[in-house]
Amino acid sequence: MAELNLILLGPPGAGKGTQAEQLRTEFELPHIATGDILRQAVAEQTELGELAASYMDAGNLVPDEVIIGVLLEAVGRPDARDGFLLDGFPRTIPQAEALSTDLEKLGRQLTAVLMIEVDDEEIVQRISGRRVNPVSGRVYHVDFDPPKVEGIDDVDGTPLVQREDDQPETVRNRLAVYHAQTAPLADYYEKLGLLHRFDGSAAPSEVFSHIRATIATLKLEETI
Ligand code: AP5
Repeated sequence: MAELNLILLGPPGAGKGTQAEQLRTEFELPHIATGDILRQAVAEQTELGELAASYMDAGNLVPDEVIIGVLLEAVGRPDARDGFLLDGFPRTIPQAEALSTDLEKLGRQLTAVLMIEVDDEEIVQRISGRRVNPVSGRVYHVDFDPPKVEGIDDVDGTPLVQREDDQPETVRNRLAVYHAQTAPLADYYEKLGLLHRFDGSAAPSEVFSHIRATIATLKLEETI
């Protein structure tokens, strides 16, 4: 397979970031996470960050015209030439169309859209226990995936924090926004024959073995 161009799709808290960490290690893909790009811009108080902050804090999507340019620039970088892993983009039909137009222009195409499915109740439980390393973005859960020492990152010792948009009210709005604006992408990619669904309620290692098996099958099909 010449290129592995993957999209991770799924509601907030489905485990996209958790799976991305394993995928990028196993397949050596650059992990392009729009949420991480935006949070970094907010922390650095760039023009993008100042624009994005109020949308993110309320759990709403940043406008398409703002995020599309940022993402296409990242996909066009040299390190993404042989493949990429998109996490958090696209999130609307116009974003998906912009990505497809851009890839077409470059003579590239998507390999697969990996959709991780988890029901809303479980998501609220997961997000309330999520803790993140604000520097590396590494993700933990107080019950399901705790660090060795409470509140401290296993790898670099950074104190873990709770994300601003992980408050229960904001999570409920993020879920509503997901169902209204992002869930329709499942149909969109299903019609293009690119969608693969995964049960995200299983343990992270089990979800990953299913995803890995799907990618292996896609690679095999290409060589036949
Ligand atoms: P973003 O950062 O992309 O957030 P999200 O999509 O809401 O996803 P999350 O990061 O909350 O969850 P995840 O699926 O990565 O789950 P995780 O692995 O952490 O976006 C944030 C904001 O930025 C948006 O609201 C929007 O404002 C803006 N934005 C971003 N992209 C945009 C775009 N394209 N257009 C417009 N605006 C955009 O897992 C969650 C927790 O569960 C963790 O604690 C983890 O340890 C645990 N966990 C994971 N897997 C499992 C498992 N299998 N079993 C049990 N626990 C698990």
